[in-house]
Amino acid sequence: MKTRMTELLGISVPIIQGGLAHLAFANLAAAVSSAGGLGQITATSLASTEELAKEIDRVREQTDKPFAVNIAIGQHHSVDDMVDLVIDKKVSAVTLTGGNPEKTMKRLEGHPIKKLILVSTVRQAQKAESLGADAVIAVGQEGGGHIGRDDTGTIVLIPRVVDAVAIPVIASGGIADGRGLLAALALGAEGIEMGTRFVATKESVASDEYKARLVKGSELDTKVIKRSIGAPGRVINGEWAVHILEAETEGLTKEEFYHLISGERNKKAVYDGDFQNGYAWAGQSVGLIQSVLSVKELFDEMVATAERFQAQIDGMMR
Ligand SMILES: Cc1cc2nc3c(=O)[nH]c(=O)nc-3n(C[C@H](O)[C@H](O)[C@H](O)COP(=O)(O)O)c2cc1C
Repeated sequence: MKTRMTELLGISVPIIQGGLAHLAFANLAAAVSSAGGLGQITATSLASTEELAKEIDRVREQTDKPFAVNIAIGQHHSVDDMVDLVIDKKVSAVTLTGGNPEKTMKRLEGHPIKKLILVSTVRQAQKAESLGADAVIAVGQEGGGHIGRDDTGTIVLIPRVVDAVAIPVIASGGIADGRGLLAALALGAEGIEMGTRFVATKESVASDEYKARLVKGSELDTKVIKRSIGAPGRVINGEWAVHILEAETEGLTKEEFYHLISGERNKKAVYDGDFQNGYAWAGQSVGLIQSVLSVKELFDEMVATAERFQAQIDGMMR
C-alpha cells in the first residue's frame, strides 16, 4: 500500500500503533514496525530519559524499520530532555499529544525527524500545520484514552480535517479492522492509528484479564471519565471506572480525585487485571475485537479484509 503517509514515514502498511501509556514498549513497537507499520514507544510511561534511551536501543536490536516516540507534552517533568534524546538518537518520527505543541515544535525545528501531532478538532489541525507538523493524527471521540472535549466522531472529523489542511491526515478512533482502514481511506485519510486493537495482541504486555475484557466486551462497554476536570478519556467499563464516575459528581478536591485516576491505579488494571481497584483505557472498538492475534496476523487480516471490501464496493459502484 502506498499513500503520502507511507511515503513520509518510510513504511509499507499505513498503520500507526498509538502511544499506549504503560503498554507501548520496545517489543510491541518492534513487532508493529517489523510488520510494516509504525510502532511507537510511549516516552511518558518511562521513568527517565535513560530508560527511554534503553527502549530505543531495544527496538533497534529487533528491527531496522522506522519507529516513533510518543511524547505527552506538559505531563512529564523532563519532556525537553526526552525531545533532545529523540533528536540525538535519530529516531525517525515523533508524535506529540496532550498540550500546546508550540514550544516542543520549536525545539524539533530543523531536525530531520517527522513531526506528527494528535488533534481532535479542525482548529488544532490547522494550528499543527502552521507550526510545521508533517502530518496530523485526528482522533475521534470513539477512541480509547484521552479524547477531545468536543465529542466529534471519526466519520465527521476526518473529512473536516482533510478539507482544512494540506498535510496528510491519519485517522484514529474506533478503527480496529480492515473495514475501518478502508473507510478511513475513503474519508480522505492517508492511513490510520489504532490504540485499543493493539492492547489485545500477543505482543502486548497487558494482563490477560484486560485482554479478555476487550475480546468479550461490546461497543457499549466503555465509559468516559475525567470530564469533570476537562480531560475526558475513554476506559473499559469496570468497578473502578464506575467508582471514578460517581466520585466526579461528589465534589472531591483535586488531590482526592487525582488519587483515583493516578498512573498507579491505571497499572493495577493494565498489569494485574484488577478492575476493582484500577482502570484501563479502551475505545468503542472493543466491540470489533474478537480475538487476541499477533501483530503480523492482525495486519494480514486487516489488509485482506480491506481488499475484500474494496472488491465488494467496486462491484456496487459498477
Ligand atoms: C490503553 C491506551 C493507552 C493510551 N495512551 C496514550 C498515550 O500515552 N499517548 C497517546 O498519544 N495516546 C494514547 N492513547 C490513545 C491512542 O494512541 C489512540 O489515539 C486511540 O487509542 C485511538 O482510538 P482506538 O482506541 O479506538 O484505536 C491510548 C489509548 C489506549 C487504548
